[in-house]
Amino acid sequence: MKKIRLALLSGGVSSEREVSLNSGKQVFEALDKDKYDITLYDPKTDLKQLVIDADKIDAALIILHGPFGEDGTVQGLLDLLDIPYQGAGVLGSAMAMNKLVAKRLYDGAGIPTPSYLSFSMNEKIQPSKIVDELDLPLVVKPACAGSSVGMTLVKDESDLQDAINLGFEHDDTLIIEKYIKGIELTCGVLGNDELEALPVIEIIPGVGHDFFDYKAKYVAGETNEICPARIDETTTKKVQELAVKAHQTLFLKGYSRTDMILYNQNLSVLETNTIPGMTATSLFPQSAQVAGYSFTELLDELIQLSIKEHTKQELRRST
Ligand SMILES: Nc1ncnc2c1ncn2[C@@H]1O[C@H](COP(=O)(O)OP(=O)(O)O)[C@@H](O)[C@H]1O
Ligand SMILES: [Mg+2]
Repeated sequence: MKKIRLALLSGGVSSEREVSLNSGKQVFEALDKDKYDITLYDPKTDLKQLVIDADKIDAALIILHGPFGEDGTVQGLLDLLDIPYQGAGVLGSAMAMNKLVAKRLYDGAGIPTPSYLSFSMNEKIQPSKIVDELDLPLVVKPACAGSSVGMTLVKDESDLQDAINLGFEHDDTLIIEKYIKGIELTCGVLGNDELEALPVIEIIPGVGHDFFDYKAKYVAGETNEICPARIDETTTKKVQELAVKAHQTLFLKGYSRTDMILYNQNLSVLETNTIPGMTATSLFPQSAQVAGYSFTELLDELIQLSIKEHTKQELRRST
């Protein structure tokens, strides 16, 4: 069989560059070299080369996180170059990347999400008013960031202004959200037209972490992850249905992973990731493993889904 000429994109220019490079390395190692001829592209330096090589590329794997990777920009470039790529397109990527846009869409679709206020950089913000309205503790997060970068859990009103200042270092729009204490869950979804919800993962940040912060996410052993989550069947079903609904509501494709909090039998959705972490031990690959896909098989599946979706779109355009 002819090998698939695969462009592996990792690196990029966002604050998650190192995470992406690390994932890219692991993805490269796991890909079946009998099936793929792989060329690596780092968008920080190699975009021109990618454009030059476009005619010789059959598919791309975007292993990038954050702005200029996960937000629809790279997806738009690949669309123009007519290269299939895994996961969400321009629209879904852009909407899911912006947590404020995503929350508005969740609201519209009846998907529960923590109460929040949003602010732009030039607005006058009064911390006491925010506390009056939402109550403490609060989570301050930039609308467009990931890996908990620029995010603060605020337990005391006197810390709110600093948290706001930090958030604005990362984006000109902020969300200030009610902190929900509960069990953190995340659920992957895989497929094009027929969506498969993967086993639910329970996330337990270790001692010293109030939430799933950057260190808890990337330092080995800082977080305990249990899959399948220790929740009953009915709750599992609800989580999986909500993950599928979030995926559809944001017009996503191929795969996604939705983060939620379970509290007093209720679920609240935090966000949906369109390019979930992709090291062999990351959350999505872990739950895919429980569902029967090795990391290598998961990568095959994502590439196949992307090629099938691209062929479908091409047929539609030609009729
Ligand atoms: N409203 C909230 N209530 C409780 N925990 C939260 C809330 N918002 C964020 N967190 C914690 O912060 C982590 C990161 O937040 P999230 O919205 O998923 O952004 P990202 O993963 O893109 O940085 C979550 O995994 C969770 O541990
Ligand atoms: Mg998250």
